[in-house]
Amino acid sequence: MDINQKQIDAWNSETLPIYEPGLPEVVKECRGKNLFFSTAVDDEIEKADIIFISVNTPTKTKGIGAGRAANIKNCELCARQIAKVATSNKIVVEKSTVPVRTAQAIARVLKSNDKGLSFQVLSNPEFLAEGTAIDDLFAPDRVLIGGQQTPEGLAAAEKLVSVYANWVPRERILTTNLWSSELSKLVANAFLAQRVSSINSISALCEATGADVSEISRAVGMDDRIGKRFLQSSVGFGGSCFQKDILNLVYLCETFGLEECAHYWNQVVVMNDYQKKRFSEKVVGSMFNTVTGKKIAMLGYAFKKDTGDVRETPSMFVLRDLLQEGSRMHIYDPQVTRDDMWIEMDYTCGVNHDNTPGLDESVITETDAYSACDGAHAICILTEWDEFKTLDYEKIFKSMAKPAFIFDGRNILDHAALRKIGYEVHCIGKPDPTKFTDL
Ligand code: UDX
Repeated sequence: MDINQKQIDAWNSETLPIYEPGLPEVVKECRGKNLFFSTAVDDEIEKADIIFISVNTPTKTKGIGAGRAANIKNCELCARQIAKVATSNKIVVEKSTVPVRTAQAIARVLKSNDKGLSFQVLSNPEFLAEGTAIDDLFAPDRVLIGGQQTPEGLAAAEKLVSVYANWVPRERILTTNLWSSELSKLVANAFLAQRVSSINSISALCEATGADVSEISRAVGMDDRIGKRFLQSSVGFGGSCFQKDILNLVYLCETFGLEECAHYWNQVVVMNDYQKKRFSEKVVGSMFNTVTGKKIAMLGYAFKKDTGDVRETPSMFVLRDLLQEGSRMHIYDPQVTRDDMWIEMDYTCGVNHDNTPGLDESVITETDAYSACDGAHAICILTEWDEFKTLDYEKIFKSMAKPAFIFDGRNILDHAALRKIGYEVHCIGKPDPTKFTDL
């Protein structure tokens, strides 16, 4: 259910509104059988036993807590609509990521119905990651369900458990109190982002000392207590969740007077901003401190591979910085649309066609990597799309201005082979062989 007719029409068409591997197959198999897309919100509320509130909760842009607090306006609107049109008891599930104790607000709004109906509110945060969403849904690490610790709350939680138990082993379905469930989602994302910022902070130290961040990730990750995953150094994390959820956590800590805790978590975001900035500065610094008038190819714009999502993508910040330096940007990403690029650039960086004349001339979106790189002074790899690993870099080298630079913001290329071709290669957290003679 959505109030946006355009979105629903797209879900009902052959071209789904988002790119997600495996999703078209699932929609094709189920649509019209046990999966329906519609804008008839009121009718469907009336018929439903369980309602998932899955609306967005973006970071507030103005007012109290602007820039950190999550705006739960849409959750409240859903609760008000349910209270208004429901004619029978319901279980209302918070699927959206929300600040802890949001369930209390939702329950109060629902309770204020004057029809004598009873509603149970559950928290069931979503842990899927983009690009692997279908696999994550079919085989989740865990399903978390929080409910009120009353006989009615426990019964409602059990009902939702029995839905998931159709395909998820029982031992992977956790039940907790409401507040633990709400907070766990923020904490999970904060921990994941913290790992990325931690390894990125080490990448800077590696570049200064001659150590190799990939070797460090491997050595550190082989300790079972630490684990291998999420130790891939990069140009920085992006996506719709990490920054938003950490800032939400920071705001929560501040609200409860926990300044040190707020400061601790905020540093994860500070480190990420530093990493993005460091990349732009490395590009400009390496290219003789000027990129004015130079063509730079950006390979990848999505915040990670296998998605067309550009929310908080690190590429956007690099693009903004390099545009300010006067470079001519040629961007290729297999899934990102030019419209989405500009919408996000305006929303997050405040850069748009009205306040920045000449944007369309300075930023060209290409339909393949080779034309993006043709005649370029430098290539920046910003998303780890598999297809970038197998490009014909000999052919690309011949077509580029010299010296030809590659800045691998994802450490996905064979750097030794590229150097053999003649490229000047810069990566993340890898020692520069021209700087260290003892490697
Ligand atoms: C994340 C959480 O993983 C998921 O559980 C939650 O439900 C939503 O938020 P998502 O934003 O889709 O999922 O992507 P994720 O795979 O977590 O990556 C986030 C960002 O971190 C990406 O920009 C990615 O490139 C970056 N990253 C990830 C690294 O730079 N290094 C890593 O080792 C891992």
